[in-house]
Amino acid sequence: MSNRQYIPGDETRLMTIQRYIAQEERLHPEATGEFSTLLRNLALAVKIVSREVRRAGLVDILGRAATTNTSGDEVKKLDVFANRMIINALETGGQLCVMASEENESVIPIPEEFPCGKYAMLFDPLDGSSNIEANVTIGTVFSIFRRVSDGCRGTEQDVVQSGVKQVAAGYIMYGSSTIMVFTTGNGVQGFTLDPTIGSFLLSHGNMKIPAHGNIYSVNEGNREMWDEGFRRYIAWLQQEDTESGRPYKARYVGSMVADIHRTLLYGGIFAYPGDRNNPQGKLRLMYEANPMAFLVEQAGGRASDGSKRILEIEPTDVHQRVPVFMGSAHDVTTAEEFMAGKR
Ligand code: AHG
Ligand code: MN
Ligand code: MN
Repeated sequence: MSNRQYIPGDETRLMTIQRYIAQEERLHPEATGEFSTLLRNLALAVKIVSREVRRAGLVDILGRAATTNTSGDEVKKLDVFANRMIINALETGGQLCVMASEENESVIPIPEEFPCGKYAMLFDPLDGSSNIEANVTIGTVFSIFRRVSDGCRGTEQDVVQSGVKQVAAGYIMYGSSTIMVFTTGNGVQGFTLDPTIGSFLLSHGNMKIPAHGNIYSVNEGNREMWDEGFRRYIAWLQQEDTESGRPYKARYVGSMVADIHRTLLYGGIFAYPGDRNNPQGKLRLMYEANPMAFLVEQAGGRASDGSKRILEIEPTDVHQRVPVFMGSAHDVTTAEEFMAGKR
């Protein structure tokens, strides 16, 4: 697999998502091209979401949609738009048998008039949506499985599989530029949208997370409610010890996509632990934790629920929550040791 990156001005090195997937498919003679079409349709949908995010503030797409989602969170108009856009772009293509979204209580069937395919996709259409109105970075997260149910139209069984079964996962971050980071189980690649030509170009080939970092990322406002072990861990990170690089820096955007993107690049740990009031934390397993865990592991890091791999959890519900500790292998291991009372 080539890791040739796009260097502005050197057009001979162009590597679009499409070219990348085509190259990967050539390594698998049995590939039918279905997957690359799926990714192409997804890329188209998120380019349109990206455009709306960029125009937000100018057009009437900010503000509340006067409804709450399955998790009881307030829904913003841009959430609704992104959700609709992704469903529209993917339901007609014939690659999916069923979808599931943070914004839909039940699974989203592929309408009878469209063909169905061998993949199932879950997504969080807009992550970090409480940040929209402040012009702070938001994102989209997706997770793709192979269909396991019999028959053509998929069922809940297809979207409630354990994370190790994912065939692809990724996120799109609408930051100072729009970047799509994904894995198909063969490393992690980042493609930045060049708005002048409307294509995602390989900008971050084979991303690797540093083995340890010096940044922690958690909502410290919940400290009083945390378990004792995690409280001690964060207090330890804040103690001065120049030899081991402490104190760590605190960074928390409050958009998981942005916090994890930074963690992938700089290392350290991102956490959303369970607490006294919410023992399973806040983040959703199927369309937030699992795809991020797949990416982080593919980049050489670790993703834990506090004691075991997130990817090995056997799910029971599309919308279930899970405590999350992910990032540099060394940092996540240390956090687990504190929580197990070993330190
Ligand atoms: P969403 O906007 O999809 O509901 O997700 C918000 C999530 C996630 O992006 C972030 O990590 C977390 O909520 C922040 O929660 P707190 O405000 O409790 O820190
Ligand atoms: Mn989210
Ligand atoms: Mn969301």
